[in-house]
Amino acid sequence: MTISNELVAIVTGAGGRIGSAIAAMLTEQGYRVVVNDSSAARAEAVAGRLSGAGATVMAVQGDVSVREEAENLVAMALGGWGRLDLLVNCAGIFPNTLLVDMDDREWERVWGVNLHGPFYLCRAGARAMIACGNGGNIVNISSTAGDSARRGAAHYCGSKAALNMLTKVLAIELAEHGIRVNAVAPGLVLDQVWTSPPPPEMDAYSAALLRGIPLGRTGAGEDIANVVRFLIDPASNWITGEIIHVNGGSTAGRVSLPRSEYKRPDR
Ligand SMILES: NC(=O)c1ccc[n+]([C@@H]2O[C@H](COP(=O)([O-])OP(=O)(O)OC[C@H]3O[C@@H](n4cnc5c(N)ncnc54)[C@H](O)[C@@H]3O)[C@@H](O)[C@H]2O)c1
Repeated sequence: MTISNELVAIVTGAGGRIGSAIAAMLTEQGYRVVVNDSSAARAEAVAGRLSGAGATVMAVQGDVSVREEAENLVAMALGGWGRLDLLVNCAGIFPNTLLVDMDDREWERVWGVNLHGPFYLCRAGARAMIACGNGGNIVNISSTAGDSARRGAAHYCGSKAALNMLTKVLAIELAEHGIRVNAVAPGLVLDQVWTSPPPPEMDAYSAALLRGIPLGRTGAGEDIANVVRFLIDPASNWITGEIIHVNGGSTAGRVSLPRSEYKRPDR
């Protein structure tokens, strides 16, 4: 085991759009990163790319909704590098099913991944940070859905609302240990950035959301990673228990038309 002063982070769901951008940002900041995903291939692909660029990373396959697998991520960080400074709970799933059509399994799966996983990891991660005595940060990746209802997303909206409250409670409980706990709530982040007006090839759902983004484009993983970087920087060391919305302004108010088509009616 190597013990050094280099900071150590865990990123769950790091094989995905947002998690991979966060993991990359952290390695640029000098963190050693446990790159977790439930898909071994995704975790290894991201870890391979980052280590190829000179970063110190460890790919660890694991399903965060299974307590032993979640706790194993913390054990791997401590066993490999002797400390834990940052936990980013990014793994999440977002199926879309009307409540009347939803089976128990889908409901439980969404809560398992989006809330129970962060609970297991926050508990194990906070215990490790307290034992290390260096303080630390926890950043939960929430969603606009945490406080804005969406058709077909009773489980998703509920789980993210609960994650927001978990964030606030933990911020209060862990403050005395020098551990800050915040959440970033992204808006629409797709594999590529689309600008307004929505092109005809865009699916109707994403096009409708894009029309409601005042800044006129969908998000990229880096937009979220940049805010995580701010939240773990000493510059934000008086911020804890916050849910930071990062969505191009889509929750600021109502936008009924894309900017290019908006014209105030003559009086
Ligand atoms: N993309 C968006 O528009 C958007 C908007 C708001 C919030 N979010 C949130 O951001 C987070 C990341 O979303 P994304 O867009 O990168 O999604 P994504 O599907 O690209 O990535 C999610 C990753 O998590 C992994 N994963 C799924 N279940 C897991 C589990 N049980 N254990 C470990 N890993 C698991 C998946 O394999 C995948 O690689 C999620 O929590 C999501 O709810 C995304």
